Amino acid sequence: MRKKKFPRESFVSMTELVLPNDTNTLNNLMGGRLMHWMDIVSAIAGQKHSNSTVVTASVDNISFKHPIRLGNVVTLKAKVTRAFNSSMEIRIDVEAEDVPTGHKFESNAAYFTFVAIDQNGKPINVPEVEPETEEEKEVYNGALRRRQLRLILGGRMKPQEANELRSIFDIKEA
Ligand SMILES: CC(C)(COP(=O)(O)OP(=O)(O)OC[C@H]1O[C@@H](n2cnc3c(N)ncnc32)[C@H](O)[C@@H]1OP(=O)(O)O)[C@@H](O)C(=O)NCCC(=O)NCCS
Repeated sequence: MRKKKFPRESFVSMTELVLPNDTNTLNNLMGGRLMHWMDIVSAIAGQKHSNSTVVTASVDNISFKHPIRLGNVVTLKAKVTRAFNSSMEIRIDVEAEDVPTGHKFESNAAYFTFVAIDQNGKPINVPEVEPETEEEKEVYNGALRRRQLRLILGGRMKPQEANELRSIFDIKEA
């Protein structure tokens, strides 16, 4: 039987200070820099869950709700929400703070998928996820739908095979 791990066992919190080299000409944090930090924090969460080397397989849609300013402190929190065979869905929540005023705001959230690999780059199985909190259970339950959607978008699954999405898109049986 496959080992199980709790989402909290892969939890990672990473804090960064937005410096001039991280910003665009408007003094706002560049999206690419934020995505780089999201990639790192989620890779660490994936490593902690799988205790192995991981690679980024895909990144879901990312929207930037509010600009993050030069001098803001950015905190990225990541944990594995669900694992399949070799792949893991990781949720990242990003919060920014203007420290002098204490104003904190949610910047964005996203799901990244990482795959655990061996020394030859071959995918290897990872432990299953056992959600504990109500929120973790809700995110866990939605993960299968999100997986099927990203596999269709990545050209790895036919829409007709996506059982979990049938009801949403009203796809008829083939
Ligand atoms: C990700 C990678 C290891 C998958 O290898 P593969 O030979 O295609 O292996 P498989 O087809 O067996 O897929 C392995 C897992 O990856 C998942 N996967 C592959 N492509 C995916 C995608 N676009 N989105 C989500 N999951 C994906 C599969 O669903 C499978 O998951 P499962 O084992 O949990 O069922 C391989 O494509 C790779 O090394 N890609 C480059 C990774 C990289 O360099 N990332 C940094 C980008 S610069």
